[in-house]
This record gives sequence, C-alpha cells and structure tokens, in this order.
Amino acid sequence: MPPLSLHSLENARILVTGGTGSFGKEFVKTVLARYPRIKRLVVFSRDELKQFEMAQQFGGQEYKAIRYFIGDIRDEARLRRALEGIDVVVHAAALKQVPTAEYNPFECIKTNVLGAQNLIEACLDRGVQRVVALSTDKAAAPTNLYGATKLCSDKLFVAANNIKGSRDVRFSVVRYGNVMGSRGSVIPFFLERRKTGVLPITDPTMTRFNISLPEGVEMVLWSLEHAWGGEILVPKIPSYRIADLAQAIGPECAHPVVGVRPGEKIHEEMITASDSSNTVDLGKYYAILPSGAAYTLPAYCDQTAAKPVAPGFCYNSGTNERFLSVDELRALIGTQVAGPVDVPVGLARDSRPPRPAARTRRHAPSPQPRHAALRPTVHQ
Ligand SMILES: NC(=O)c1ccc[n+]([C@@H]2O[C@H](COP(=O)([O-])OP(=O)(O)OC[C@H]3O[C@@H](n4cnc5c(N)ncnc54)[C@H](OP(=O)(O)O)[C@@H]3O)[C@@H](O)[C@H]2O)c1
Repeated sequence: MPPLSLHSLENARILVTGGTGSFGKEFVKTVLARYPRIKRLVVFSRDELKQFEMAQQFGGQEYKAIRYFIGDIRDEARLRRALEGIDVVVHAAALKQVPTAEYNPFECIKTNVLGAQNLIEACLDRGVQRVVALSTDKAAAPTNLYGATKLCSDKLFVAANNIKGSRDVRFSVVRYGNVMGSRGSVIPFFLERRKTGVLPITDPTMTRFNISLPEGVEMVLWSLEHAWGGEILVPKIPSYRIADLAQAIGPECAHPVVGVRPGEKIHEEMITASDSSNTVDLGKYYAILPSGAAYTLPAYCDQTAAKPVAPGFCYNSGTNERFLSVDELRALIGTQVAGPVDVPVGLARDSRPPRPAARTRRHAPSPQPRHAALRPTVHQ
C-alpha cells in the first residue's frame, strides 16, 4: 500500500483540536506562514479567553482562512459540526498534567479517551482524509493515569484504520517526549522558581527526552503527508538530565532532592522492547507499525527504505545515545524559551566531566521525599 501524499496542504481545510495550546499555536503559526493560501484553518478548543487572545495574534482580518470554534471534544455533535468540509485533523487537545489526572481520573478519561473516540467517529462520518493524533512518551508502558489514557487514545487511533471501510482516511499517531518550555512543564517552572534561590529536583538521576515545539510541528506536518495509517511515529531526539537542567537554569540555586511523585518514572520510554518486533527505523523517525494492518512490515520497508530495528530494541531516555549538556540546554532555553539565561560570573561554564548514559535497570531506588514543601507541582 503506497503512501498517498497530499498534493499540498496549501489547498487543505485543517482543524486542530487544542489549537490554543502550546503545540496548537506553533502549528497555526507555521501553517499560516508556510501555506498562505490555505483554504481553512479551524482552532477548536473550549476556553473563549484563550481563543480571544490568540485571535489578537492571528486574527480573521489578516488571515482569511482562520476560524475559532468553541467546542469540547467530549461533545461529539459539536465535533461533527466543526468537521464539516474538513480534510485534515490534528488532534492536540488533552488533559496532560500528571497530578491532575491522578486526582481527577474520570475527567482525564472523558477528555483523553472518550474525546478521542468522539473525534474518530466524527472524522469517519465527515469524510476527513488525514488524522494525526499527538501522543506522549508517558503512553509507553504507562505508570500514571495520564499515560494510560494516552495509550488508550493511541490504540483507538491505530484501530480506527480497521473500521474505515472504503473511506480514504488515515489515522496515525505522533509520540514524543517533553516539549521544551511548553505550558506547565519543568523549564518554565524552574525559570520562575529561580527567583526563590531553590530549584527542587525529583531525582538526580532522572532523565527526560527533549523536543522543541517547531520540531514537533515539523514531524506532524511530515506525518500528515507520509503516514500510511496505523503507525505510531517516534522522533529521534536527545535526552537531558533533570540535574543538568537545574544547573543550566540556576547554577547559583540550591537543588534539593524532593523525590519522585506517584506515577512518575526515573526514565521515560518511547518504544518498549515488546514493540521492537513491529518497529522500523525511518532515519529521522521510528515507526511502530500496527499488527494486523492492511500492509506488512516487509512491504512498508520495501517502499519507504525503512529498516527493522534489532530484536529487543527499546528507546529509553536513560540509555539514549545523545544527551544535551548543561551548555547546550542553556543555549536552547535561550533561543527557544526565555531569551538568554543570565548566569552569575564563574558559574556559566559546564565544567563537569560528561557522564555516561544512565542504565535504566541499574538505577538505585529513588530517595524518600525530603523538603516536602518544595515538591514541584509540574511533571519533570
Ligand atoms: N507539552 C508536552 O511536553 C507534551 C509532550 C508530549 C506530548 N504532548 C501532547 O501534545 C498535545 C498538545 O499538548 P500541549 O502542550 O499543546 O497542551 P496544552 O498547552 O495544555 O494545550 C491543550 C489544548 O487542549 C485544549 N483542550 C483541553 N481539553 C479540551 C477539550 N475537552 N476539548 C477541546 N479542547 C480541549 C486546551 O484549550 P481549552 O482549555 O481552552 O479547551 C488547549 O488548547 C497533547 O495531546 C499532549 O498530550 C505534550
């Protein structure tokens, strides 16, 4: 089954759920700049204030294609209305804070799982041709409810290809790790907390994958054009150590270890060893192929030049080949998040020797929480 490439997104009518979020805004900015003659670009989300603020930047006067549509993905009728005439859907709406999901599981399931089902059903009924849903590393072997709901969502989008009948539609998933500087994430938290002189670290050995918003948007645009349907696409991206991030942002601060929170992993995983038999290497990305799809792994490799990964392969932030150094982190934060990070004289250099990548199975048990009052409210 060869990939059907869209001739161009130029003539497409696109809807992005969660269009006012960190990803959504970057996606809208990119699409409007790259495809100035795009027919329609619908931002779908609940909160009118976020839409009002976004419309100050991307207003209908200047950008004729843009529409702001208030709606909740829990409301299938509203989704059907919004999807009238839409060719392409990017699904970014989600509840994504780990502690929020742990405390409000019913709400998280309604948005992340039932919302995904509503969107799939509405896309099938409205003749949408391409759907890419955003996922997270927390969905691979999940240990918290947020990750578990995103895994369910991934499964729904992959399986949607089985019930499309004769429709020309492809559902795929893009799964990546921490987005540098996104709303509610550790970098804005550390930048804010730096003023207090204390940057709490959950565990000094903790690692995370890192991707920038523009890289995430590029990958989604690539997937819209190249995905066959049913893949979970995973980018090859670097990791960082939380301790190095604290050093990059506040080398003059105290870095107390406050312990991991319920459901939090020391290292994140994007592809588990159990996925390896279905996973191929596309060069810039990996693809976890669906089992029982309309195409086989050899056919996919044949036509995309992808190569199967080694048996038992896993893609883990702790054993990643590439780690960002303190200096690299500081430079990236400077260019992508906050402007130059002002570091006191004598503390600017990354003078520590590079450390070998942590080994997931060998790390020591996490220390017991200390400094309970300093526990961060964001997910690292
Ligand atoms: N940020 C990361 O580090 C990261 C990493 C990996 C994967 N992801 C995934 O990437 C996607 C986008 O993340 P993000 O960082 O852009 O999140 P975000 O900044 O929190 O934005 C979430 C968006 O979803 C909307 N939304 C939430 N619930 C909704 C509902 N029930 N119906 C309609 N819209 C709803 C929000 O607007 P309203 O509140 O106004 O509705 C907002 O526009 C998510 O699927 C997330 O799981 C994020």
